Amino acid sequence: MNILMLCREPRLYSCQRLKEVAEQRGHTMDILDPNRCLLKLSANAPHFAIYYQDSAQASPRLLPQYEAVLPRFGIASTQMGCAVLRHFTAQGAVCLNEDQAFLRARDKWQSLQLLQQAGVAVPSSGLAGCEFSAKQAVAQMDSPTILKTLTGSQGIGVMLAEKAQSAVSILETLKEANVVALLQDFVSEAENADIRCFVVGEAVVASMQRQGQQGEFRANFHRGGLAEKITLTPLQQSIAIQATKALGLDVAGVDLIRSEQGLLVLEVNASPGLELIEKTSGVDIALAMIMQLERKYHHAMKKPC
Ligand SMILES: Nc1ncnc2c1ncn2[C@@H]1O[C@H](COP(=O)(O)OP(=O)(O)O)[C@@H](O)[C@H]1O
Ligand SMILES: [Mg+2]
Repeated sequence: MNILMLCREPRLYSCQRLKEVAEQRGHTMDILDPNRCLLKLSANAPHFAIYYQDSAQASPRLLPQYEAVLPRFGIASTQMGCAVLRHFTAQGAVCLNEDQAFLRARDKWQSLQLLQQAGVAVPSSGLAGCEFSAKQAVAQMDSPTILKTLTGSQGIGVMLAEKAQSAVSILETLKEANVVALLQDFVSEAENADIRCFVVGEAVVASMQRQGQQGEFRANFHRGGLAEKITLTPLQQSIAIQATKALGLDVAGVDLIRSEQGLLVLEVNASPGLELIEKTSGVDIALAMIMQLERKYHHAMKKPC
């Protein structure tokens, strides 16, 4: 296959690993920044053209058609990245993940609604409209309360308000700055740990438990969280797979948290990092992803694998 990875940072471990494995399996892979693309719709063929500018001074070049696309762009590029992904889909490429599923996962509130609708347990959460008073919104939640911006990642945008009054003042400040945030009950019994499940297709291929640093409630690697290998129970595996399906993703990093009410899904990441989880679990996740892309491509072509 002629594969394209959409990513702003080709030197990242995840990108390097995916490229290495794709090439080992006889594919070619280009890595391009979706923000350097120009999408064109025309009445005359080609109806879906994509031009690429390698640098600010370079003349744009028409991109070839790719058979498969891997979206690996960050939150700052979600809109353009998904628009580029849709253009390639219109040209007939298979994608791991598709643009609609990717967009669903990038909106934390929408994801929670879809998970709850699919019967996947999530922490009690709330979203207040801009005319709803912050004080009354916080009063509907338990204290301490977590506040999360809708598109944050790597622990950024996740805040813990120990007291209701702090939650109100944070919410009011965010509102003033035009930043929408959801409210969530703080699961203190998780003791600053969460479980990351890496799902590819219909299976959890790798997992790890992450523990927040001393005094840090966020277990994210980027916030200094430490990881250890963990073997998932069948229940943990089935929740992770159900959550991935609820959002329509092919590849997902599902974060689980242990609570008094049982396991809860915190979020479903559509472009999960490979470095920490490959190194912790010893699993070749890049290989699992490229093989899933091959299966999807063969299925789309109606050819046997
Ligand atoms: N409701 C909660 N209760 C307890 N800890 C939480 C809660 N929500 C998030 N956390 C902690 O904060 C981390 C980051 O939250 P998450 O929703 O996964 O956002 P991000 O997209 O930034 O990773 C989680 O991994 C978890 O350790
Ligand atoms: Mg997370």
